[in-house]
Amino acid sequence: MRRCFLAALLLTATAVQANDCVIDLKADDAMKFDRSEVTVAASCKTVEIKLTHTGKLPVAAMGHNVVIAAPADLQPIAQDGQKAGAAANYVAAGDKRAIAHTPLVGGGASTSASFPGSALKAGGDYVFFCSFPGHWAIMKGKLVVK
Ligand code: CU
Repeated sequence: MRRCFLAALLLTATAVQANDCVIDLKADDAMKFDRSEVTVAASCKTVEIKLTHTGKLPVAAMGHNVVIAAPADLQPIAQDGQKAGAAANYVAAGDKRAIAHTPLVGGGASTSASFPGSALKAGGDYVFFCSFPGHWAIMKGKLVVK
């Protein structure tokens, strides 16, 4: 009895955490994400960002995060984030242009964040990027919402 109950719970959890509601990214010491494009469903109640830093360098030297925004907001968010500093994860407090962002992590660490799917519109133009100073110029990709 108990076994069946647990199995049912696991199945339910799997169904809710559908892959098209997860932005799953890996970043390394070469200042790169493992994907240049990620697709999520517009119907997601919650979108989860997962970031794994597969490198070895410390956060002060090669920290990475994931920020979601409109393409035109990437540079302003990164520039204001640099002023806000590492303690703010290089995203200025209360910056509404950032739809969501994870904390900053160093090599060997992982982190996550979630935000309401209603913040994204189907067919909208979005990017994901790392706001660490200098990284955002190349460490970015397209977020497609279907
Ligand atoms: Cu980075």
